[in-house]
Amino acid sequence: MGETFAGSVVLVTGAASGMGAACAREFASRAATVCLLDLDEPRLRTVANELGTNSIFGGDVSDSAFCASTIDAIIDRFGKIDILVNAAGTIHRADALGTSNDDWRRVMGTNIDGMFYLCRAALGHMVDAGGGVIINFGSIWGGVASAGSTAYCVSKGAVHQLTKALALDHAEDNIRVNAVAPGEVRTPMLLAERETAPTEYELQALADATIPMKRLAEPEEIAKVVAFLASADASYMTGEIVHVDAGYTAR
Ligand SMILES: NC(=O)c1ccc[n+]([C@@H]2O[C@H](COP(=O)([O-])OP(=O)(O)OC[C@H]3O[C@@H](n4cnc5c(N)ncnc54)[C@H](O)[C@@H]3O)[C@@H](O)[C@H]2O)c1
Repeated sequence: MGETFAGSVVLVTGAASGMGAACAREFASRAATVCLLDLDEPRLRTVANELGTNSIFGGDVSDSAFCASTIDAIIDRFGKIDILVNAAGTIHRADALGTSNDDWRRVMGTNIDGMFYLCRAALGHMVDAGGGVIINFGSIWGGVASAGSTAYCVSKGAVHQLTKALALDHAEDNIRVNAVAPGEVRTPMLLAERETAPTEYELQALADATIPMKRLAEPEEIAKVVAFLASADASYMTGEIVHVDAGYTAR
């Protein structure tokens, strides 16, 4: 176990599932005060019950008023926000011709608009407090593209640039902004938006064909890196896109 986060207030979005839930568990296990946000309220409650927190925010990050009121509620209750982890995300597996305006808006609204709204709302308080940490979820597909997921690739490229721009704007405010860019991770998203769910055999075939280490990541392997980036051990890191991809982008 790394550094503890005792006394730190952390907001994790996308906390009902996958890597967001893994991050919430990681920070909770290191004594942070954990606040959880997700669109899927029933599953969010399950995670909140497991972690013993009642700081939960059910809603849609693409709604700027919801993002602002969430941050305000955290400030009202705890007086500060130290760490923001933006893990909420969605995918549409189609090329441009298969992407409707609604598909495009759903992916952009969640993956980049919502991230911007939450960063902006949290940054105001972090500047006043004299510091803070933000970790955004990018993707290997934010740097290299993948065929058949146009909106998703564009949204994750934007996440990487948002991360770098905010890092520069707030470097002198003692606020560090970094992103993780995971490879293929075993979460519900990996199976989402496909005509048929891939079998274990097909997933292993995908790993054998595309991942140098020839296996998928477990969500906890990404959460450990997020916690590192949030910790004082990463005190000289800002504006980084940290690939956690078993060598996928090393080629
Ligand atoms: N799974 C992968 O292989 C992979 C790879 C690279 C990056 N990512 C990114 O990692 C992050 C976490 O993904 P995951 O794989 O854990 O997915 P997941 O589907 O398990 O979890 C995503 C969570 O985000 C929530 N969410 C979706 N839209 C929302 C909205 N508008 N407002 C609030 N919450 C919303 C969902 O309800 C869900 O609980 C995402 O940003 C994703 O794009 C995933």
